[in-house]
Amino acid sequence: MYDFKGKVAIVTGAGIGIGKAVLMQLARDGAAVVSVDLNGENAARAAAAARALGAVALSYAVDVSDEAAVHRMVADVEKKLGRVDILVNNAGLWRCDQGPFAESQSAFWKKKINVNILGTMYATQAVLKGMIDRKYGRIVNLASVAGVYGNKNMVDYSTTKAAIIGFTKALAKEMGEFGITVNAVSPGSINSEEEYRNNTELSFLGRSGSSDECANVITFLCSDAASYVSGQNYQVDGCRKKM
Ligand SMILES: NC(=O)c1ccc[n+]([C@@H]2O[C@H](COP(=O)([O-])OP(=O)(O)OC[C@H]3O[C@@H](n4cnc5c(N)ncnc54)[C@H](O)[C@@H]3O)[C@@H](O)[C@H]2O)c1
Repeated sequence: MYDFKGKVAIVTGAGIGIGKAVLMQLARDGAAVVSVDLNGENAARAAAAARALGAVALSYAVDVSDEAAVHRMVADVEKKLGRVDILVNNAGLWRCDQGPFAESQSAFWKKKINVNILGTMYATQAVLKGMIDRKYGRIVNLASVAGVYGNKNMVDYSTTKAAIIGFTKALAKEMGEFGITVNAVSPGSINSEEEYRNNTELSFLGRSGSSDECANVITFLCSDAASYVSGQNYQVDGCRKKM
């Protein structure tokens, strides 16, 4: 449990999965939360669940690869809630269009680049001015073990997540003087669905992880308990077996 009272947090891709788990943990610990998702219904449902925990919660149906829409959303949050202290860039495409690179289509690469890389860059730039002015910020970017080791049949995806790790490390160096930390979290296999839970092939812990087990690390990095941690990539992968 952390103390996020008085803090405003935006989580992208908060409608389901890891993003929703992060939104709930931040709400549980007192943050005003902003649920952003391409799927507006899921975004609204997650915000309602956060309100049920007693939090102030807004929701937005936004495509993070739409730069103007991302900037409008952040401006609206700043107008309504006064500030943005925490940004979790979680929205990402990974389930779709997997297969051998030699047979893949550039249209698929571009979709992943637009959402996974540019979406993260747009949202980050949109919140930075306010964070720099207030000399406080926490930014956590979702990368992946695919970006560290490279995943077969996920070459385009692995490329985007390696870029996120580079983005995180470089930006952290620019933001240090402003009291803004920038970190990445690289999940291994995180799945809430029972059929995947006991997949011993994936990790030395002999199973995949839950969304909450991944959110635990993200929420820590959003907190003041992580005040001296920046420019890092935390792998949450149960000690990955396959690379
Ligand atoms: N689950 C895993 O095993 C795993 C492993 C490594 C990395 N990751 C990364 O963690 C993050 C979350 O993963 P997850 O498994 O919870 O994802 P998920 O696919 O379950 O959910 C992603 C959410 O992001 C939203 N989204 C997708 N494109 C969007 C866009 N353009 N704009 C706004 N929202 C958008 C979706 O609607 C969805 O609600 C992703 O960045 C993913 O690449 C996940």
